[in-house]
Amino acid sequence: MGVAGVKDPPSTATAPTRVARSARTELTLTPGGADPDGRGPGTICHEYINDPPLESAVSALTVRPAQEQDREQVFAISATVWEGQDYIPLVWSGWMEESPEAGFTIAAEMDGQVVAVQHTALQPGAVAWMEGIRVHPDFRGQGIAHRLLADGIRESARMGARTVRLSTASVNQASRRVASGAGLRLVARFEVYSADPAASQGPGTRAISASFEHLERVGSLASGGTLLVADGWTAVELPTQASPGDFPIWLGAGDPVEAVALARPSPARPRLNLVHLAGTRDGIRDLGTQLRHEAHRRGLQRVTASLQLDGATKATLLDIGFQQQDDWDMLVFEGDVGSAMASLTG
Ligand SMILES: CC(C)(COP(=O)(O)OP(=O)(O)OC[C@H]1O[C@@H](n2cnc3c(N)ncnc32)[C@H](O)[C@@H]1OP(=O)(O)O)[C@@H](O)C(=O)NCCC(=O)NCCS
Repeated sequence: MGVAGVKDPPSTATAPTRVARSARTELTLTPGGADPDGRGPGTICHEYINDPPLESAVSALTVRPAQEQDREQVFAISATVWEGQDYIPLVWSGWMEESPEAGFTIAAEMDGQVVAVQHTALQPGAVAWMEGIRVHPDFRGQGIAHRLLADGIRESARMGARTVRLSTASVNQASRRVASGAGLRLVARFEVYSADPAASQGPGTRAISASFEHLERVGSLASGGTLLVADGWTAVELPTQASPGDFPIWLGAGDPVEAVALARPSPARPRLNLVHLAGTRDGIRDLGTQLRHEAHRRGLQRVTASLQLDGATKATLLDIGFQQQDDWDMLVFEGDVGSAMASLTG
């Protein structure tokens, strides 16, 4: 699960040891004040007392707001995934400092040990974006991720969210199971491309105004007039969740414009995130080339893109030096918060 501008590699999750879940799990809601630092909503503290206890010999799981003091244990979990390239250390401080209206981070604790973490970004348009779920390798396969997602959705509902979304890699079977277990359905598949910066320029390209007119002209908008874009591992829908101006780089090719590219520098890594590319084959060729030049000009290390593309556009990208991440795609799952709550309690 992702965060704006940051790439999350696919899970290396191993097949779990199945642990029977108690049919008689009690849920105790600890009232407000569970967050001693005053960060994040203070009402999440669900203690699950299992009778009989989980077969894993762990007696209880407590889900509570994550705190700055959890840093070391969370980073230790994070270091076990994707060869230490996980993005959580890059965003942790921001998560700890954000206002409750912007999002919240929850941690799961067993016998005093932090065993899992998850962040929820409360996006515009009453969307809860679930991301950064990490379960300690020794505690996987016990339903902890299912439980964290459920608690995240419940808290999001309390905060007014109506839609829940998350992304994961297509090969991440555990994560996909967790999403479908909460009643979320697959709504988009983004293929991942990247290219090195390059000095050569794309002829016939220029900066254009950030407007829906250009997107409409090149046929980018869905029937409802919206466009879902993936920015790193996060997806946002224009115009309901982001305005065209939120993406500072708008390039057009041709006059009048026959192809459009939207991009922005990643907030966390030295990369240019290409979030949308559409139009004629020649226009796309020029724009892709110009984006590589743009990364070069800005001293960035890479152009990365998660895109929903047709076959011709893919061929063009490969032709101009982009490489496709060939073993997985980024999937976006979505659900209505009310239905997800019903499926969680049902
Ligand atoms: C993905 C992850 C969060 C799941 O945590 P978890 O606590 O082990 O998950 P749960 O036990 O709640 O549920 C996992 C489900 O996936 C299934 N599963 C696990 N590994 C699997 C595999 N390799 N293939 C198929 N299914 C698998 C489990 O059987 C379970 O299925 P169920 O819904 O039928 O019960 C954990 O593996 C992890 O931290 N991975 C590394 C980080 C990561 O990938 N995060 C998600 C990024 S989007």
